[in-house]
Amino acid sequence: MRKLILHDEGGLRWTVYGRDPERSDKVIDTNEYLISSPDNLVMLDPGGTEIFPAVVAAVSEDIDVGAVKTFVCSHQDPDIMSSLPLWMGLCPEARIYLPWLWSGFVAHFGHEYVDRFVPVPDEGCAIPLGGSLADLRLIPAHYCHSSGNFSVYDPNSRLLFSGDIGAALMPDSQSELVVTDFAAHVRYMEGFHRRWMPSNRAKQRWIERVRELDVARLCPQHGALFEGEDVGRFLDWFEKLEVGSAVA
Ligand SMILES: [Fe+2]
Ligand SMILES: [Fe+2]
Repeated sequence: MRKLILHDEGGLRWTVYGRDPERSDKVIDTNEYLISSPDNLVMLDPGGTEIFPAVVAAVSEDIDVGAVKTFVCSHQDPDIMSSLPLWMGLCPEARIYLPWLWSGFVAHFGHEYVDRFVPVPDEGCAIPLGGSLADLRLIPAHYCHSSGNFSVYDPNSRLLFSGDIGAALMPDSQSELVVTDFAAHVRYMEGFHRRWMPSNRAKQRWIERVRELDVARLCPQHGALFEGEDVGRFLDWFEKLEVGSAVA
């Protein structure tokens, strides 16, 4: 599994793990993110059961995985969180932030962990990082694509974890972790967004929210990350795209 440190300053480190060359070609490729801070260890969208051994092996090279305190699940899909029962066995202190809308559904993965759920209200919430760091902010991203869905913004590093927004289905031959040619990258995003994003109105609301933030890098759960001017290029492209339109 490849990894890239996205930020490492003032006691705050963001690392992305992904593009596992050993992954079964039956499962969609995913990115998992770890945030290490003075008072918290946070995993964003920890991934599916199928890739759990590879993710644990990669993350345990950097931290004591049993010390992860916080999991954030942007929404309910199996590629986001079907590994949770396995993680809960490893991380006795961990709590799970997830959209309130899905808590009763996600409990089907293992109801014994429900008392560790933090159901996030529709307007979002903050997650403390400790020290002098600003809190993480869960930003509403409902219907993009899931009906209960959040992005995660870190004002310290100016990184925005966008979940399935900005996702690209890239061939294994394209192993880059950061977009280098936006125009060429569009071909890997277009079908995904047209089919999995159902609402132009919801899409527009999310874009408005993100434009109010100062984003250095936009970090999706599938495919490569956008940085610098490509963040704005992505928002402009997404704004023009008619979504919910891939079914004849
Ligand atoms: Fe999804
Ligand atoms: Fe996904």
